[in-house]
Amino acid sequence: MHPEINESKLTVVDHPVVARDLTTLRNKNTSTSDFRASLGRISIILAYHALKQLPLREVSVTTPIQETKGYHLDREVIVVPILRAGLGLVDAITRFIPEARIGHLGMYRDEQTHQPVDYYSKLPKGIEDAFVLLVDPMLATGGSALDSIGYLKEKGAKNIRFMCLISAPEGILNVQKQHPDVSIITAAVDEKLNDDKFIVPGLGDAGDRVFGTG
Ligand code: PRP
Repeated sequence: MHPEINESKLTVVDHPVVARDLTTLRNKNTSTSDFRASLGRISIILAYHALKQLPLREVSVTTPIQETKGYHLDREVIVVPILRAGLGLVDAITRFIPEARIGHLGMYRDEQTHQPVDYYSKLPKGIEDAFVLLVDPMLATGGSALDSIGYLKEKGAKNIRFMCLISAPEGILNVQKQHPDVSIITAAVDEKLNDDKFIVPGLGDAGDRVFGTG
């Protein structure tokens, strides 16, 4: 791990199913349908970890035998995919939290400048108090994540986590420098970025692969 990365704010999910499916995602010969299936499974495991710090409220529940202690979620969950590729991770979270509301941030990375370009945003109300999960399969330079986190904070979000499949050390460091409060949940920290700012070894362009537009 890069010595400057704050590991207390980084969860790298270590699981045999994740390792197996990540290999399928990395393989350039994987079909769109197999890519989607592997992405679906990994994102469920990531979501499980991303939701670990969700606060609870103690309640009482009556079983058929007696009254006992139970729990309700104490905070609303809002999922915010960064379009397009982030859409592929939303379903994993709504499986756990079916009532989660969903915001959208439209952003693509300019191929020449590698800078994020915003084209759409729509957030649900109540983001100030919500447990916000920003999702995107790739954290490369971190430009898209930084723009998105900055925007969410501008709108009042205080409790943000970033969930991604694959990350580069550069992107993690950039997020941690500007937003040390934001935890990152990822399935892999890859080696580096190449000259085109693609993650190496990575898996190519996640959006193109999940939507079959490559
Ligand atoms: C990819 C990816 C991230 C961004 C990561 O999106 O899904 O949003 O690039 O790069 P960064 O960390 O350097 O900003 P892309 O521009 O390919 O758009 P798409 O999701 O529409 O395919």
